[in-house]
Amino acid sequence: MKVMYSAVQPSGNLTIGNYIGAVRNWVRLQHEYECFYAIADMHAITVKQDPAELRRRTLELAALYVACGIDPEQCALYVQSHVSAHAELCWVLNSLTYVGEASRMTQFKDKSRKHADNVNMGLMDYPVLMAADILLYQTDFVPVGADQKQHVELARDLAERFNKRYSETFKVPEPLIVQGEARICSLQEPDKKMSKSDADPNASVYLSDDRDTVMRKFKRAVTDSGNEILSSPEKPGITNLLNIYCAFHGCTMSEAESTFAGMGYGDFKLAVGETVADVLAPIQAEKERLLKEKDVLAGYLSAGAERAFKAARKTLSKVYRKVGFYQG
Ligand code: TYM
Repeated sequence: MKVMYSAVQPSGNLTIGNYIGAVRNWVRLQHEYECFYAIADMHAITVKQDPAELRRRTLELAALYVACGIDPEQCALYVQSHVSAHAELCWVLNSLTYVGEASRMTQFKDKSRKHADNVNMGLMDYPVLMAADILLYQTDFVPVGADQKQHVELARDLAERFNKRYSETFKVPEPLIVQGEARICSLQEPDKKMSKSDADPNASVYLSDDRDTVMRKFKRAVTDSGNEILSSPEKPGITNLLNIYCAFHGCTMSEAESTFAGMGYGDFKLAVGETVADVLAPIQAEKERLLKEKDVLAGYLSAGAERAFKAARKTLSKVYRKVGFYQG
C-alpha cells in the first residue's frame, strides 16, 4: 500500500483554507493509502506559543481531525513530539542541508519579516524537520496546500542527496496539490492566502466560527469592480469566493459560474456563506462531543504514536547505520 503523510500545526484556529487545502483531502484518501497524520506541535513552537494554549489546541486539533472524518482506526493519528524519531532524523538531515537553501525558503523569509524579534534557528530549520517527518515513513504522497510545495521539494532534494551519498534509503515523495483548492485566499486581501495567524479577524473563516460569524465575514468579503460573477485574474475577490463555493458545494467552476449568472454580489456572498456554514455545523457539533471524551481521544493519540514509532524506528535505524553511527 502506498504511504501518505501530512500534518497541521496546532498554532491557531484552523481556517477553511486548512480544511480545504489539507484535512478534507486526507479524509478522501485515507482508505486508499497507509496514512500518517500528525499534529505538528514541534513546528508550532518555532513561533512563540502560550504553553497552556498549545496543549489545549493539540487536543482540540485531534478532535477536529476525527470530527472532519479521519478514522483513527484506519490512520495513524498522532502528536509529532510523541515520536522522538522526528527530531533525531532532523538532526541527521541538518548535516545535509545547506544554510543557503534553508535561508532561501519563501516561508522562512516571510516569517522572519513577520516575527523580526524572534528569528530563531527552529524557524530556519522548519522545512528540514518537515522533511524528516515525511521521509521517516517512506512516504509516497504528501497532500498539502500550495504554500507547502517548496518544503516538499526540499524533502525530495534531501532524500535524493542522502540516497546518492549513502545509497538508496529514502523514498522520494511527491506533493499532492489539488488545483483551485490549494490556495484559499483572505476574504479581505484576496491576493494573500487565508492564514490562521492573520491579525484581521474578518480575513479568515475559522472552522470554529458559528453561522452568524461565518455569514458576517462573507458579507464583508472584499469583491471587485464590475458586476459579473466570473473567475478571472482581474477578479481575485470573486474568484476566491467562487473557489470556496466550488470546494464546499462540490462542483466545477463553470457550474458555479452558471449557478450565479445574473445574481448581484450581495446575494452571491450570502449564498457562499450559507454553503460554508452548512458544512461546518456538523463538524463543530462532533468536535464538541469528542472533546467531552478526552480519554478516548488520548487513546487514539497513543495508539497512533505507537504505530508511527514502529514505522519511524525502521527508517531511523537504517539511517543511523548508513551514516556510520556505531550500533554495537
Ligand atoms: P499549517 O498548519 O501551516 O497548514 C496546514 C495545511 O493547510 C494548508 N493551508 C492551506 N491550503 C489552502 N489554502 C490556504 N489558505 C491554506 N493555508 C494553509 C497548508 O498548505 C498545509 O497543508 N508545515 C505544515 C505542517 C507540516 C507538514 C509536515 C505538512 C509539518 N510537517 C509534513 C506535510 C508534511 C503546515 O504548513 O502547517
